[in-house]
Amino acid sequence: AKIHRHTFAIETKAYTRLCDTKKILTVNGEFPGPTLKAHRGDKLVVNVINNANYNITLHWHGARQIRNPWSDGPEYVTQCPIRPGESYVYRIDLTVEEGTIWWHAHTQWARATVHGAFIVYPKRGSSYPFPKPHLEIPLILGEWWAKKNIMGIPGNANKTGGEPAISDAYTINGQPGYLYPCSKPDTFTVTVVRGRQYLLRIINAVMDEELFFAIANHSLTVVAKDGLYLKPFTTNYLMITPGQSMDVLLHANQRSDRYFLAARAYSSAFGAGFDKTTTTAILQYKGVSLTDDVNQNPPVLPYLPPYNHTEATTRFTKQFRSLLSGDRPVNVPVKIDTRLLYAISVNLLNCSDDQPCTGPFGKRFSSSINNISFVNPSIDILRAYYGRIGGVFQEDFPRNPPTEFNYTGENLPFPTRFGTKVVVLDFNSSVELVLQGTNVLASDNHPIHLHGYSFYVVGSGFGNFDRRKDPLRYNLVDPPEETTVGVPRNGWTAVRFIANNPGVWLLHCHIERHATWGMNTVFIVKDGPTESSRMLKPPPDLPSC
Ligand code: C2O
Ligand code: CU
Repeated sequence: AKIHRHTFAIETKAYTRLCDTKKILTVNGEFPGPTLKAHRGDKLVVNVINNANYNITLHWHGARQIRNPWSDGPEYVTQCPIRPGESYVYRIDLTVEEGTIWWHAHTQWARATVHGAFIVYPKRGSSYPFPKPHLEIPLILGEWWAKKNIMGIPGNANKTGGEPAISDAYTINGQPGYLYPCSKPDTFTVTVVRGRQYLLRIINAVMDEELFFAIANHSLTVVAKDGLYLKPFTTNYLMITPGQSMDVLLHANQRSDRYFLAARAYSSAFGAGFDKTTTTAILQYKGVSLTDDVNQNPPVLPYLPPYNHTEATTRFTKQFRSLLSGDRPVNVPVKIDTRLLYAISVNLLNCSDDQPCTGPFGKRFSSSINNISFVNPSIDILRAYYGRIGGVFQEDFPRNPPTEFNYTGENLPFPTRFGTKVVVLDFNSSVELVLQGTNVLASDNHPIHLHGYSFYVVGSGFGNFDRRKDPLRYNLVDPPEETTVGVPRNGWTAVRFIANNPGVWLLHCHIERHATWGMNTVFIVKDGPTESSRMLKPPPDLPSC
C-alpha cells in the first residue's frame, strides 16, 4: 500500500469576497482547502500543525477509521482539541472507502472554511463501475459570511439562545459566482469539450442548509453517494444535504457555448431565516463561439425546485439503490440484535430553566435526541472509555423516546435534559436505528451522520414510524449504503448496520446550528474477541485537554 504524507498547517489568511476582505481560518492558506487524493488500499498520514489562535481538530468525513477512532477527530468525543502551537498526526487507512469523501474541521464552527475534497480512486489495477470519464472535477458547495467572525457564531448563539448568524452567499469552490457583487470575474468555470463525459465530485460543505443543484440544459447521472456506488440514475437536479457527497456523470452534449451550474437552499422550515442566495459556476464549451462576451450574453440559469419543495426532495432521494458488486456485496443485516428509536427535535427551553438568555419569547433554542441535549465533556469520551476514567459520560442514553408521542404535536410531551450519554453496543451486534423527526417548531430535515460506519437505509416515510407496519415495506435487497442520511421533515428513516468497528463514534445532525444546540449522541462499540477486532492503542502525540 502506498503511504501519502501531508502537512496541514492551520493558519489565518485574508480572503476577499462580496467586496470585503476578512481573515478566515484555512489549511495551508487555501480556501477551500487542499484536495486529498489516494487509491483504495492506500494510507494517509496527515500532520496537522496549529499555527492559528483557535483550537482545532480535523475529521475525515466518510472514512471508516477501522479500529482507529483516535484519528476520527470530533472534539471532546475522540480527542481533545489541538491547541494553538501544537500538532497532531492523523492516520487514515482506506480499506473500504472508494469515491468522493471529504475532510473538515470538527471544532465549533471552524469547518465553515476549513474543509476540502478527499478523492479515493479504485484499488490500483481496478476501475470504476462506469466508463472512465475524460476529466474529474471536484465541486465544493460552501458558504461565505461577509462580516461575521465565524468562530464567534456558536458561542454567541449559545449565550443568547437565539439563532446563529446566517451566511451571506453560497459558494462553488469558494466563489459566490456571477450573480453577486464583486464576484463575477472570479466565477468558477468548468471547461468541457463537446461529446466527452465528465465526473463531477460534488460535496455539500455548507453549515446549515440542504441544497438543490442543477446545470442548465444538462441531465446528471448519479453514480455514487458518500463514497459508495449507487445504481446509476439520471435526474435534472440534485438535493444534497450538508455532509453528503455525490459523484455525478455529466455528458457534454449541448451546442451553445455556456451554461450555468447553480445551487440554492432547500429549506423545509417555512418562514425560518436562511440564506436565500443562488450560487453559480459556468459550464464553458471549449472552442464554441468563445468570442461572445459573457457579460453581453450571460448563460441561462437551470431550473431549481422552489425552496420548500419537499416533494422534489423525496422524489430525488427515493431513487438511491446500492450497486451490487462482487467486490463489496450488498449485505443487509436481517436478524436484529439491538433496536433503537431516536426522536430528534429542535425545541425551545425557558431561559430561566437553564441559564440566563435573551432568545425569542424569553426562551432559548435547543436540540435533543430522545430528550437528551448533548453536552461536551471536559475530556474526550474515547480517552475516558479507554482509560476507565469515571464521571465523564453515562451509559444510560435512552434507547427509545421517554413516551409514545405524536410527531404532529406542537410540543414534545417531555422536557429536554442536558447530558453526555452514550449507548454501548456489543461487537458484531446488528443494529436497527430508526430516526424519527418531530414537529416541534417549524420542523426541518435532519441530515444525520454516523462516524466510523456506513449504514443501509432500509426505509423512510412520513408521519410516525409504525413498528408493526413500516418494517414490512423495508428494502432489504438493494438499499443504498450511506454515511449521512436525510431524515425527512415530519417523517422517519430506518438504517441498519453491524457494529463491527470498535471505538467511540459520534452520531449527529450535520446542520451545524442543530449540532450546536445539542443534536449529537455517541455509540461506544466494544472490542471484539481477537487482537484484530480490538481498538488500536492511543498514539503518543494525542493532545491533552
Ligand atoms: Cu462531517 Cu461529524 O461530521
Ligand atoms: Cu438537524
